[in-house]
Amino acid sequence: MTEQKATNVTWHEHNVTREERARLNGHRGAVLWFTGLSGCGKSTIANAVDRILHDRGVHTYVLDGDNIRMGLNRNLGFSPEDRTENIRRIGEVAKLFADAAHIVTTAFISPYRADRDAVRALLPEGEFIEIYVNASLETCESRDPKGLYKKARAGEIKEFTGINAPYEEPESPELVLDSDNRGVEELAQEVIRYLEEHNILTV
Ligand code: ADX
Repeated sequence: MTEQKATNVTWHEHNVTREERARLNGHRGAVLWFTGLSGCGKSTIANAVDRILHDRGVHTYVLDGDNIRMGLNRNLGFSPEDRTENIRRIGEVAKLFADAAHIVTTAFISPYRADRDAVRALLPEGEFIEIYVNASLETCESRDPKGLYKKARAGEIKEFTGINAPYEEPESPELVLDSDNRGVEELAQEVIRYLEEHNILTV
C-alpha cells in the first residue's frame, strides 16, 4: 500500500451519490480489467467492447497502456516498482470512472497478481471484472504488432514481459478469453454476455 504523505486532509462525501449517477446513466459503473501479454489482443478487444457498449448508449471509456504512458504515467518505466505504480494510478482513475457510473475498460499488461488484487480491493464487490486475455507467448511473438518481441530477443529491450520479465497469470479471473483460437468480435461478445448475465448494464 502506498503511504499517504498528506496530513490534515479530510474525506468529503459527494452530494450526488453513485446510485443517483447510475440511475441517470441507466446502468451501473464497472471496471473491465483486461490483462495479458503484450500483443495478446487486450487493447483491440477492449476497444471492440467499448464500441458495442457505446453504440448501445452505455457511458464508457478506454484506458490504454501505451496512451496512459504518454501522459499521466509518462514518468514511469518498466521496472517492477514502476509497473506497480502504473497499475496503482490506473486503478485509482478507473475507480473514479466506476464511481461516475461509467463502464471503463483498461488494457494494461498488469503482470503482477498483487497489483491487480490491490485494484480489485479498491472497488465495491462485483465492480472489478478481471478479464484474462489468454494467448500463448508463441502467438503474441508471431503477431509482434510493434516489433518489440524481436527487439527484446535481440537484447535491445530489458525486462520485456514474457521474455525477461514475469507475467503472473490470474488465478480466478471473472473471464478468460481464448485469444489463440478465437477472433476479436467473438471475444468481445463473450464480454458483453458476461455483463448482461451479471446485470451490469441495468440499474
Ligand atoms: S505494465 O506492465 O505496466 O502493465 P503497460 O500495459 O502499461 O505495462 O505497457 C505495456 C506496453 O508498453 C506494451 O504493450 C509495449 O507496447 C510497451 N513496452 C515497452 N517496453 C516494455 C517492456 N519492457 N515490457 C512490456 N511492455 C513494454
